[in-house]
Amino acid sequence: MQKPKYKRVVLKLSGEALAGHNTYGIDNEVLNSIARQVVEVVRQGVQVAIVVGGGNIWRGVAGSAKGMDRATADYMGMLATVINALALQDALEQEGMGTRVMSAIEMKEVCEPYIRRRAIRHLEKGRVTIFAAGTGNPYFSTDTAAALRSAEIEAEVILMAKKVDGVYDADPIRNPTAQKFDRLNYIDVLSRGLGVMDSTAASLCMDNGIPIIVFDLTREGNILKAVMGEDIGTYVGR
Ligand code: GTP
Repeated sequence: MQKPKYKRVVLKLSGEALAGHNTYGIDNEVLNSIARQVVEVVRQGVQVAIVVGGGNIWRGVAGSAKGMDRATADYMGMLATVINALALQDALEQEGMGTRVMSAIEMKEVCEPYIRRRAIRHLEKGRVTIFAAGTGNPYFSTDTAAALRSAEIEAEVILMAKKVDGVYDADPIRNPTAQKFDRLNYIDVLSRGLGVMDSTAASLCMDNGIPIIVFDLTREGNILKAVMGEDIGTYVGR
């Protein structure tokens, strides 16, 4: 049996991914599919941490564009990620997986506070550890939270789950001639504004040498393929 390429990964799930075909809320089928895929990966001996966004419930940037105070809108977004984290925790536990949710904003009645060394212990014990509430700070995206947590827990790769199968030179939905990249370096992502992640997150990955694999979450089995080192999606590295 082939061994996984990575021992510790951060899976970044966008909030929108959880909405499935809807524009709002949580699609149970998507949730269950993610849970099944994550369980498959953990059974291969891979430590999985998850950073989840909140855009299926509330987008801070959109709120501030409509005149709301940006920091307030961002805090609302962080709370939205906690809702998604609890939904994921439930779906994973229904599959029999041990999990812990750790929030960057303390809310002890709901989940654990984020403590780096404790997070690492949870992972070592085979628990799927879900990082909620972003970085705990406004003006930072959950992509940046994924980059930060990856650096902190020494994850070997960020698996960026999207609804498209990689990074393209133009929007593949609007432009059928758009070309997919198999491999990119951080500088390309930053200088060409390729939309893999925002520049703060991409810079953090570049400075800490954390590779990113952008792949299509909607194809079941893709998370496992990514950790096994199969060439799926787009690889971003040095
Ligand atoms: P180990 O010592 O590694 O076994 O850690 P553990 O997480 O199993 O032990 P602990 O007794 O700390 O946690 C037991 C349960 O309580 C787990 O489900 C934790 O997620 C939960 N828990 C721990 N701390 C908090 C907290 O501050 N708030 C909430 N809501 N739950 C917590």
